[in-house]
Amino acid sequence: MRTGLAFLVLAFALSGCSRHSDPVARGQAMFASYDCKKCHMVDGDGGTLGPDLTLVGFRKSPEFLDVWLRNPGAWKADVSMPNFHFADGVRSDLVAYLATLQGQAYLEGARPWDHADLAGDPVKRGEEIYERVGCVTCHNKRGKGGYPNINAVGGRIPTLTAVAEGYSKDELVKKISDGVRHPGKADAAGADPLLYMPAWGEKLKKDELEAVADYLISLKPQGAASGDSW
Ligand code: HEC
Ligand code: HEC
Repeated sequence: MRTGLAFLVLAFALSGCSRHSDPVARGQAMFASYDCKKCHMVDGDGGTLGPDLTLVGFRKSPEFLDVWLRNPGAWKADVSMPNFHFADGVRSDLVAYLATLQGQAYLEGARPWDHADLAGDPVKRGEEIYERVGCVTCHNKRGKGGYPNINAVGGRIPTLTAVAEGYSKDELVKKISDGVRHPGKADAAGADPLLYMPAWGEKLKKDELEAVADYLISLKPQGAASGDSW
């Protein structure tokens, strides 16, 4: 009895101290050992075959990340991200780590869109923000849309190539700043769509929201014809 109790106390103490009991630390180690950085940047370091993940925990919910890592191809046809067939525990550790990626390195340090060569060009700067904070991961290259979103109206995330017709610049900045936490549902009785429009005002400064708006306004419907999708 005594030995049992001592064992329990010891096990508890060990699990409390050990780095291995921390899902975020385990997830970060998994991220390194699966070489996710081959395709993904985090904090400015990594490849560009896939999107920059520095703000992935802000733009995507843990529920979505779990569904995605279970099988990217089940959410979206013809993805170039492999299905890693993770064990449940590995997947939940990766989700715990990804959820911590809230943009700290960029927003509290060097913002990659604050290069000197982008300074005089709000549209190009806006494009860089669009890519790096990950608007592109939902609205696609150059705002051409078409990304699946189960139970959203039309089943897809909207195209942004014609926003200049529906919004003034101020309205557009406000829309991007406020986001849409509960996108319109196709079936009102069904679940909320897993992808929603984040409130970017929580992360981006006024001049950054304006630069993204300038970029969206510069997009023309003919831009939607280019086939450079992931
Ligand atoms: C061969 C390249 C490649 C590798 C390796 C890879 N990914 Fe991806 N990943 C992609 C691409 C491409 C996309 C974008 C797919 C799309 O949305 O069309 C993506 C999308 C994602 C997304 C969701 C999109 C977002 O940014 O909002 C997450 C999360 C993600 N990957 C995590 C991982 C993790 C974790 C690993 C390692 C276990 C990994 N990826 C390995 C190519 C890769
Ligand atoms: C996680 C996915 C996601 C990300 C990332 C995202 N959006 Fe959205 N966005 C949506 C969804 C979903 C809607 C539709 C909301 C609704 O139903 O009204 C939307 C709507 C919009 C609209 C309104 C479109 C219209 O026709 O009324 C604009 C503008 C917009 N997003 C811009 C952006 C910008 C700029 C960024 C990056 C700073 C961004 N979005 C990032 C999911 C996303």
